Amino acid sequence: MKTACGAAIVLAGLAAAATATQCRVLPGDANWPDAASWAGLNRTIRGRLIATVPIGHVCHDPTYDAAACATLQQTWTQPMTHLESSSSIMQTFVANQSCDPFTPQSTPCQLGNYVQYAVDVSSAADVQAALQFAKKNKVRVVVRNTGHDYFGRSTGAGALAIWTHNLNGIDFKPWSSASFTGTAMKIGAGVMGYQAAQAADAAGVVAVTGECPTVGLAGFTMGAGHSALSTSFGMGADQVLEYEVVTSNAQRVKASPTENSELFWALSGGGPGTYGVVVSMTVKTYPGLKIGGASLQMSAAYTTPAKFNEAVAAMYALLPSMTDLGADVIFIATNGLLQISPVTVYNSTGEYVEKTVLAPFTAKLNALGIPFAAKYSTLSYLDHYAAYLGPLPNGNFAVESYQFGSRLIPRSVLVNNNDGLQAVLQNLTSQGVILAGSAADYSAPAGGRVVANAVLPQWRDTTIQLQLVTRWDSSPAARPDMVAVQKRITDEFVPQLRAVTPGSGTYVNEADLNQPNWKEEFFGVNYDRLLSVKQKWDPTSMFYIVKGVGSDAWTVDSDGRMCPT
Ligand SMILES: Cc1cc2nc3c(=O)[nH]c(=O)nc-3n(C[C@H](O)[C@H](O)[C@H](O)COP(=O)(O)OP(=O)(O)OC[C@H]3O[C@@H](n4cnc5c(N)ncnc54)[C@H](O)[C@@H]3O)c2cc1C
Ligand SMILES: *[C@@H]1O[C@H](CO)[C@@H](O)[C@H](O)[C@H]1NC(C)=O
Ligand SMILES: *[C@@H]1O[C@H](CO)[C@@H](O)[C@H](O)[C@H]1NC(C)=O
Ligand SMILES: *[C@@H]1O[C@H](CO)[C@@H](O)[C@H](O)[C@H]1NC(C)=O
Ligand SMILES: *[C@@H]1O[C@H](CO)[C@@H](O)[C@H](O)[C@H]1NC(C)=O
Repeated sequence: MKTACGAAIVLAGLAAAATATQCRVLPGDANWPDAASWAGLNRTIRGRLIATVPIGHVCHDPTYDAAACATLQQTWTQPMTHLESSSSIMQTFVANQSCDPFTPQSTPCQLGNYVQYAVDVSSAADVQAALQFAKKNKVRVVVRNTGHDYFGRSTGAGALAIWTHNLNGIDFKPWSSASFTGTAMKIGAGVMGYQAAQAADAAGVVAVTGECPTVGLAGFTMGAGHSALSTSFGMGADQVLEYEVVTSNAQRVKASPTENSELFWALSGGGPGTYGVVVSMTVKTYPGLKIGGASLQMSAAYTTPAKFNEAVAAMYALLPSMTDLGADVIFIATNGLLQISPVTVYNSTGEYVEKTVLAPFTAKLNALGIPFAAKYSTLSYLDHYAAYLGPLPNGNFAVESYQFGSRLIPRSVLVNNNDGLQAVLQNLTSQGVILAGSAADYSAPAGGRVVANAVLPQWRDTTIQLQLVTRWDSSPAARPDMVAVQKRITDEFVPQLRAVTPGSGTYVNEADLNQPNWKEEFFGVNYDRLLSVKQKWDPTSMFYIVKGVGSDAWTVDSDGRMCPT
């Protein structure tokens, strides 16, 4: 047998055999569940088991279909292409070219890192059945909603996916507890940002959503969740009042500040896919007041490099005061372009954004003689979201097109060492790195009492979640170069930013997948407490994810075999 565990048995005898029996099974193993077992699971869940056929199969023999393949290639970078599928993943590196629409037609379509099967979950009972089956048969489990994840934490070779996409119910109800009184929104675990924004708008309220309209609220929340509304209301994790969870032993429990409170604490920012399967979340909503908004663009083409850099540095220096004025500021910066889109101020107007929030910055641009294009708006949150982060549902972010690294930039660095920061950022952009920033006051939600959660404490001193982005070239021949660039992100780019932000951390949901020292970077002082929650609620590691709490107890080899470390 060619498998790593099989080889271990032959070489090392009985001691290794004990370990091997704890490995997750892969198709082709003697103990992989047979067709009758899978059919039995399918009956239990009333026919909701899906055997994976990667969406790229239309580009490969023997199922090649020229028209379907051309359409798939054209829509490949749109999130909707992937998230309606029970298996497709949006991070090209993780997809490992096993059924890539851009590889030759004659290349076979293989499952590789795609899940083997998915349960199209319609209720907690389906989740329970999936977990019981997986536990009994030692099948790897992953929780999948949209497939957006940067590390591929929603996929795995040979895995059974618990696919939450169709748990999309949304209900509003009055809520009164020690931490919050108002209207709450109960959402199924499949609900995405744009769906929540639309439902909230129809109910006359607003809810905290991610910037990308198709990001799942559950995965976003469990990682921390930064939003264009964070300055007003805090992070995604700060919104949750209660979760309904199916735990690793297939029990259905509630987690709230008063019930299973340690589980509640860990789920709220301690990393997705780690402690249990969230079936629903109840989150806070706020009055549906108007949003003051703006976008602004300027280009190095109309000025000198020195003045362009001076203007960009001025924006960074002004961000703490902009967030003090109630704004969230999302921007993209390269060595030739600065695009702010949008500025978001809750319960405000475009006039306030123009005359108060952005005025010091536009005055600086005028003083430098740099032309810029700006527009201002007063809209509902839904219309603001659609105008600046839409069009809904896909949004203006391409997927399958980038690689990432990131760092949380503390307010103190902007105040005390902006020059040092700018020197690093200019060095990075001069090498083609795109900077994507989300600036807000992440310190704590305004109004209402704050319930402690597992959000990395460094977030509370952060002004910018800054992502270092490089382009992914999807032509197959470019893959070695792309892997080399990812290595530069790990070895050269992020360390420069780290050096100028001592003591800060990294956002677990938007990081370099090879981030070293990840326990400290992603979880910081919370790690040990999170590990004890993990050991209590998931003692057999049903929920393994890459670089998640407790994940170092497991190793997944290059063929996807998962065994105890
Ligand atoms: C274009 C783009 C824009 C983004 N914008 C933002 C942003 O504005 N703010 C922000 O904070 N982040 C943002 N992110 C990052 C985002 O938070 C992560 O990609 C996150 O992992 C997406 O969650 P998902 O459920 O949509 O994805 P998936 O890949 O389906 O899942 C992600 C992780 O969540 C777990 N998970 C999902 N559902 C459940 C559940 N019900 N129970 C347990 N575990 C679950 C999965 O197991 C996996 O580990 C963005 C990402 C992209 C690609
Ligand atoms: C599960 O059952 C449904 C309904 O009978 C069927 O359509 C589907 O193909 C089955 N799934 C698998 C993996 O066999
Ligand atoms: C990823 O691709 C490499 C090269 O083709 C292959 O050796 C490896 O087995 C693949 N991994 C998985 C999990 O399929
Ligand atoms: C909205 O702004 C008005 C005017 O500044 C203020 O009176 C009101 O309290 C604000 N409402 C909320 C919910 O912030
Ligand atoms: C700029 O970045 C490169 C690598 O990405 C690094 O080698 C170099 O030292 C950096 N320059 C400065 C001045 O930090």
